[in-house]
Amino acid sequence: MGLVLGIDSSTTATKAVLVDPEGTVAGIGVAEYDVRLPHPLWSEQDPALWWTGTQAAIRSVLAVTGVPGSDIEAVGLTGQMHGAVLLDRSRAVIRPAILWNDQRTAAECDEIRERVGAARLVELTGNDAVTGLTAPKLLWVRRHEPEAWRRLAHVLLPKDYVRLCLTGDLAMDRADGSGTGLFDLAARRWSPEVLAALDLDPAWFPPTHEGPVVTGTISAAAAEATDLVAGTPVVAGGGDQAANAVGVGAVAEGTVALSLGTSGVIFATTDRPIHEAQGRVHAFCHAVPDRWHLMSVMLSAAGSLRWFRDALAPGEDFGALAAEAGAARAAADGLFFLPYLSGERSPHPDPLARGAFVGLTLQHDRRHLTRAVLEGVAFGLRDGLDLMLAAGMARPSEIRASGGGLASPLWRQILADILEADLVTTSTTEGAAFGAAVLAAVGRGWFRDVPAAAAALVRTTPAASPGPDRAAYAAAHAAYRELYPALAPVFHRASQGRRLEPRGASPARSC
Ligand code: XUL
Repeated sequence: MGLVLGIDSSTTATKAVLVDPEGTVAGIGVAEYDVRLPHPLWSEQDPALWWTGTQAAIRSVLAVTGVPGSDIEAVGLTGQMHGAVLLDRSRAVIRPAILWNDQRTAAECDEIRERVGAARLVELTGNDAVTGLTAPKLLWVRRHEPEAWRRLAHVLLPKDYVRLCLTGDLAMDRADGSGTGLFDLAARRWSPEVLAALDLDPAWFPPTHEGPVVTGTISAAAAEATDLVAGTPVVAGGGDQAANAVGVGAVAEGTVALSLGTSGVIFATTDRPIHEAQGRVHAFCHAVPDRWHLMSVMLSAAGSLRWFRDALAPGEDFGALAAEAGAARAAADGLFFLPYLSGERSPHPDPLARGAFVGLTLQHDRRHLTRAVLEGVAFGLRDGLDLMLAAGMARPSEIRASGGGLASPLWRQILADILEADLVTTSTTEGAAFGAAVLAAVGRGWFRDVPAAAAALVRTTPAASPGPDRAAYAAAHAAYRELYPALAPVFHRASQGRRLEPRGASPARSC
């Protein structure tokens, strides 16, 4: 047997990961790029970056490992979710893609709730209208950029733009499709009712497929650009969260994935399409056929620690900073940190939410501040987990944790105490790109299905279990939960007067 290739078009880089039939990573190629932040709350990227990044990352991993393109048996795609990629009839990009972390669309979210009906929207799609999803971005372009809107013929998500460049096909997987806010969650297809209510043409949206299904093959032009071989199959793949869950083996009910990167995500697989009544956590299709998942997304998780380090302890090593917080007591001696530094998604879908330290006294020093940051992030994640439990998900038997934040033993212990579950790490550290490669392996027929592939490829190691501080944290969490409702009016008043100017569209480009 040869190898499979997983490609992750993330917000900061494209990563190409080669995986062998035992699940060993044979090599990694990376090509980095920037995000454009042209206005407060805006976040955009030119799709051409993902295509040039894909070419560079694939060429790099093949060159470094000496593996010929003919050894690659299948390719799996993943990437940042929710980005609105708008193409014209000739499949040229109309304007820069509006990304998952763009927060400009509060008015369009209100419009969606009004047009579809707030309760009906959650019932159909599993989700409230929040700025992160794709649907409000489309409405924003319609309202502010009529020239661009007139040219619209196709809507894609970031990794599906890469698919178009690799195979010439317009296609999407159902996990990512359900992250647009336009999908019928239970039926696993575009929702005719939501599209009609929002006056969006169904012809703009591509056919969707389950994660391991082959959607096309590498074209002659893409073979030339990447050193892959024309005719190599490409599977549907999944958005980065679903693919990451596949990569850590969170593919069956009861196994939860926690990813602690810049953002913090709790991902729980479900056997049926359940949702939280107000859509305060996401409910999407999984990249595993006929499975779904709930997901809570905190926008600034390890990102909060980075902000804290950069603002108050510049140059300090993360490990040393987190370790010194071990000298402060659990629950940081009455000090709380709210991690809503870039607004929040779950459990408070509020682009104007803000960060805060609450409860400072003369007794507090940097160790308490740091500990409050680590705990505040864990409390916010617990808020999301509680909403998911209330929605009907099974209590997790274990949490499969990944991401840079897990390097800190203190943070691991705080998370196990506050989430009240055993934390394990996995042998598979390449996240979403690895999961995309697993989906390619299943599509190529190496394994019967995704759970069989995960069972064969993913090993776990215990990382932390709930300890004696659990009770102190339970009491502190009750106090923490009162802070956002109390402070939200202040956050909103503080943001008044900020105006967002629309900006002209950029010239079209295509792959
Ligand atoms: C998930 C989400 C992020 C992006 C970032 O809902 O918005 O994980 O996909 O890559």
